[in-house]
Amino acid sequence: MTRVFSGIKPTGHLTLGNYLGAVRRWAEVEQYETEALFCVVDLHALTVEHDPARVRRLSRQAASLLLAAGLDPALCTVFVQSHVDEHTRLSYLLECTATDGELRRMIQYKEKSARARVSGDGVRFSLLSYPVLMAADILAYRADEVPVGDDQTQHVELTRDLAVRFNQRYGHTFTVPKATRPPVAARVMDLQDPLSKMGKSHEAGAGIVYLLDDADVVRKKIMRAVTDSGREVAYDREDRPGVANLLEILAACENGDPGELAGAYESYGALKKDTAEAVVELLRPLRKRHAALAADPGYVDGVLREGAERARGMARPVVDSAYRAMGLLPVG
Ligand code: AMP
Ligand code: TRP
Repeated sequence: MTRVFSGIKPTGHLTLGNYLGAVRRWAEVEQYETEALFCVVDLHALTVEHDPARVRRLSRQAASLLLAAGLDPALCTVFVQSHVDEHTRLSYLLECTATDGELRRMIQYKEKSARARVSGDGVRFSLLSYPVLMAADILAYRADEVPVGDDQTQHVELTRDLAVRFNQRYGHTFTVPKATRPPVAARVMDLQDPLSKMGKSHEAGAGIVYLLDDADVVRKKIMRAVTDSGREVAYDREDRPGVANLLEILAACENGDPGELAGAYESYGALKKDTAEAVVELLRPLRKRHAALAADPGYVDGVLREGAERARGMARPVVDSAYRAMGLLPVG
């Protein structure tokens, strides 16, 4: 059976981008059709300025939201990265496989390190090594597929390179994984700045729909989305990024096609109104389930405990064999 691994960082509240680009598919497709693991990757949240109490809170919230989105612990494994030591054990071996040059080429590293420099925060060394830890997350489980949004393609490419290199040098150890992406909305853009990704760590929230926003807040944000100067509704990501973004969001909600939907609208206002209602309806059941789960943290903690145990059992033998392959002396 195909094995799938994916993760989400507890660096902020989950957004519509996270949901449409990744989580929704995990819940609707992957958990049924594959052997799937979904991970709250808390160690990754420490690569930028962070508040410990907030990361802790957001980790539990992210796990609750994954369950609220429909992940069923009877069908897939949901756990927290720091609960399974194999990730960091393997990460070091992969640091000895990766080169400084290939890590410095990562687009996210370039963007985030530039931002950290501007804001006067130091650039943490872990920000550079981050994609290696991500590779460890994936390779420790011999995952075949990694369902992610567009922004993670380069990191998954690096993971493939590291797996191939390791296998060639030290003997076949890892499965070479591939990224998979949703048919539409693989990159949901910020509603106020449709040239930038809708990202949960961004400061201003006006262009970001959070999964836990009230329905009225969702409506307001979408109705105020920046559109383009043209008047007729056309699907053109280059020249009409704002309208294209709305069309993609609507298409994702309705399992439709953004190009076809464009033909059904005569005004931006009508498009915004329908998109707002579609998003509100999409998120309604999720918000309801989340409220119930938030009231029962013991249940969520139990799911995470069992998930970590299962994950550990899967990763342990793979990472042990990587240790041996690389020349480390086994405990006698
Ligand atoms: P992150 O929030 O960076 O931990 O991302 C978790 C998952 O959501 C990854 O698979 C990302 O590619 C995906 N994702 C994050 N933001 C967006 C977005 N704006 N559009 C589509 N997918 C996204
Ligand atoms: N880097 C991913 C992101 O920012 C999160 C992540 C960490 C991940 N480890 C992973 C995604 C492993 C897929 C598989 O979104």
